[in-house]
Parts: sequence; C-alpha cells; structure tokens
Amino acid sequence: MQDYVNDKVQDEAKQGEAFAPFAYDPNNYKKKFYIESYGCQMNFADSEIVASILNENGFGATRNFEEADLILLNTCSIREKAEQTVRNRLTTFKQIKNEKPGMLIGVLGCMAERLKSKFLEEEKLVDMVVGPDAYRTLPGLIEEAETGQKAVNVLLSREETYADISPIRLDSNGVTAFVSIMRGCNNMCSFCVVPFTRGRERSRDAVSIIKECTDLFNNGYKEVTLLGQNVDSYYFVDEVNDETVTFAMLLEKTAMISPQLRVRFSTSHPKDITDEVLHTMARYENICKYIHLPVQSGSSRILQLMNRTYTREWYMAKVNRIREIMPDCGLSSDIISGFCTETEEDHADTLSMMEFAKYDYSYMFFYSERPGTLAERRYKDDIPEPVKKKRLREIVEMQNRLSKESYSKDIGNTYKVLIEGNSKKSDKDWMGRNSQNKVLVFAKENYGYKKGDYVMVKVNAATQGTLLGTIIN
Ligand code: 5AD
Ligand code: SF4
Repeated sequence: MQDYVNDKVQDEAKQGEAFAPFAYDPNNYKKKFYIESYGCQMNFADSEIVASILNENGFGATRNFEEADLILLNTCSIREKAEQTVRNRLTTFKQIKNEKPGMLIGVLGCMAERLKSKFLEEEKLVDMVVGPDAYRTLPGLIEEAETGQKAVNVLLSREETYADISPIRLDSNGVTAFVSIMRGCNNMCSFCVVPFTRGRERSRDAVSIIKECTDLFNNGYKEVTLLGQNVDSYYFVDEVNDETVTFAMLLEKTAMISPQLRVRFSTSHPKDITDEVLHTMARYENICKYIHLPVQSGSSRILQLMNRTYTREWYMAKVNRIREIMPDCGLSSDIISGFCTETEEDHADTLSMMEFAKYDYSYMFFYSERPGTLAERRYKDDIPEPVKKKRLREIVEMQNRLSKESYSKDIGNTYKVLIEGNSKKSDKDWMGRNSQNKVLVFAKENYGYKKGDYVMVKVNAATQGTLLGTIIN
C-alpha cells in the first residue's frame, strides 16, 4: 500500500495527531468528536470522510479529547508496532472514560477490520468497532452504543468508494489536499495485510474525483495528491459520458483543471505503471515529477516469494524508462529487510538496487509477520530479529548516503516551489516543495508572498532531507 509521499504521511502510528476542521464553528454542534489517525495517507483521507459523516449527524470536531463525547482512533495494521501504538493509546483514554462514563470510544480502520469483534473482548473499554467500508453506518452505530450495547460493523464492500461524500479537511494547511481515487487492493503481496483489511480494489467515479479537485482549487488549494493502494490500476467505466477512464486519463483530466493546480499521486506499483502515465507526466508541467515506486527487495528470488510479480531486471528497466522520459524525476521507495529466507546475498542485492535507483529517500522497515497473510500461511518467519535489524541499519545507512548525494546535487539549482506555510523552526522562513517533492526552506524577506504562492528559489545548501535556499525574482 501505502502511499507515501510526504512527511505528513508515512509510517505507522508515529504521528497519530489530533485533527479538527475549523472551517466551521464546532460550537454549533450538540456533541463533539475527537479523531486520531494512524498509518497511511488513505487513513488520513478516510478520517476526513468520517468527519463529514459525523458533521452531518450533529457532531462537531474538537482538538481536545478531554471534552469529547466520542473518541475515534483510525488505525493501521501494517506492522505489529503500529497495532501496539494504538493499544497503548487506548490505555490513556481508559482513564478519561473512567471519569466520564457517557463518553464513547470507537476503533476504525484496518485494526478494526482485522480483529473484528475480538477487539471488544481484548480491549474492554472500546464501544464501537467499524471497518473501512462501514463509515456510512457510523450514526446508527453511535446510537446503538449510546444505549450501552457494543456496536460492530466490519462488512467489506465491493462498491463503496464514498464518492458522493465531501470530505471535511482536517488540520489542513489550505494549500495541499489528499483525494482518494480508489479503495482496496487486489495485489496480494505475500507480506501484506491490506488486501484483507481493505478488501477488493474498486475505482471511484472519475466525475466525482474531478469535481472534488475542482472544488479544492476553487477554494484556494494548489495541490492535490491522488491516493490509492495501487493508482496505476485505476479503471473507471463512466457510463454517463460513455468513456473508460484509465489512470493516465485521470491524471490528465486533473492536470487540466488549471495549470496553477499541482497534481501528485501515490502509490505506484512497478508492474502497473505504464509509459502512457510517464508520458502524461512529462507533458504537463503541473504534474509533479516524482514517483513513489516501492521496490520492497532487490532480489528476484525474494520478490517472487513476496508475490510482487516483477523481477530485479524488470524493476531496473522501469527506472531506466522513467529517467529516459523524465530525466529530472524524483524517485522514492519502500524497502523491507529480513523477509522469509532472505540470505546475505539477497540483502546485498537490495543494497545494490538502491544504489542503482538512487532513491531520493525511502521508507524502510524490517519484516513483521502479519496474521492471515500469504507469507504467514506459507513461509516460516525465519530471519532472527537481530539479523533483520542489522540489515535494516545497513539499508538506512545506504539511504542516508544516497539522500545526501541527491540533495547536495541540487545546490546551485533553481526550483519552482509551492509555499505550504511557515517553516517548522521559524516564522521568518517559508517551507514548500519542488516538483520532485523535496522540501525547501527559505527566508520570507520582504517580498510579500503568501501561503499558496509559487516562487522561484535558488538552493544554497542542503541538510539531510531539506534544501535551504533564497527567493530569486
Ligand atoms: N512487514 C514490514 N513492512 C511491511 N510493509 C507492508 N507489510 C509489511 C510487513 N508485514 C511495508 C511495505 C509497504 C509499506 C507500506 O509497508 O514496504 O510498501
Ligand atoms: Fe501495497 Fe502490495 Fe500491500 Fe497492496 S498488497 S497494499 S500493493 S504492498
């Protein structure tokens, strides 16, 4: 899955921040909900759908869980650690619930789907368990829980895409937004729990996607990231307009909303990303030149066990093709160390693949066996944890070197940057990204630019993960 483009995203449960929509007055609502999201961007996007559904049903958002009538955790199951973080978080809420007996606690998302009603047995304080395709039934489930019953809906759907629901932008910078274009995954990578927690792949109505992106643009947003577990297999038969929309076509339609609207997407699967997509990216200046192309392993033997359906050579050819069509394209990856039966030689293949692809950055993990996955049923999790961790350290070291090289190479270059807001460290500096998805920090000076403006920035220095520059006029 998932769908990792920027630092807001990623990895498991480490961020779990509170989000609240402030585009409306939460005090107008009788009851208050508090929601935390964990895991991939899809989950963050889903929380915005949940917020919209709750809003329609009389719940306003709060950033302060102590004043909430309803606490929701939108959870991730991708690795064991992600689940542990959620369990720890629940113990914090337990104390609050003890002091405020009427308050409800609900678990949403992948952990809800994976554990189903078992969750209620394991975590006695939870009142509701709601899977990713059941959010429309939340109002009814809340009513049920309010009567003291435990409420569960973990039915997966082949159709649900929440196409007609206008997400409420939670904790938004007002400049960049995620737009979900499909749900589920049909790939069955052997390590991955996602096909079980999010169900079959289905694509959202293209007309509703373009409408959502157009509305965002009309409300001042300047960048949309089209989200799916495997965006390249997007496929929608639009019977009204008598058109079959592929991902390349959807990209083009989104890019055509306005040259001032940047378009990003995530995640691509190496087996599915087509030349047509690459040429479409090259043709439109406002489609960002950046691809997140998870390799997972550099060894063909391991890739086969992972059921990734490509070889090392196929992946390398794809990288060459990307560079040929877009020489300036940014590239990032997901990498797993210590998958079942991985030898030192397989691991060396992963390191050499990283050097070959020269990733700008990567999301790196050691293998965590997940119940119910193909790998759990077929293979032994036979690499000792210290070995998995040692290999992961080597992968991280390799990536640090590659990132350093990639960022240093940008010194002296000038980039068009979309200003997203103040830099984390100082309100005298702006923070934004270039097309390649690299973060730039630069002094505001007296130019009078504002959030959402495009500026030309010359890079003077690079730290790991950030380019430092100055505005040029
Ligand atoms: N163990 C470790 N990493 C995993 N990922 C998915 N499943 C597992 C697992 N069982 C990683 C993959 C995927 C990313 C979202 O998480 O690299 O691309
Ligand atoms: Fe991604 Fe594969 Fe997992 Fe689907 S099965 S979410 S494509 S890693």
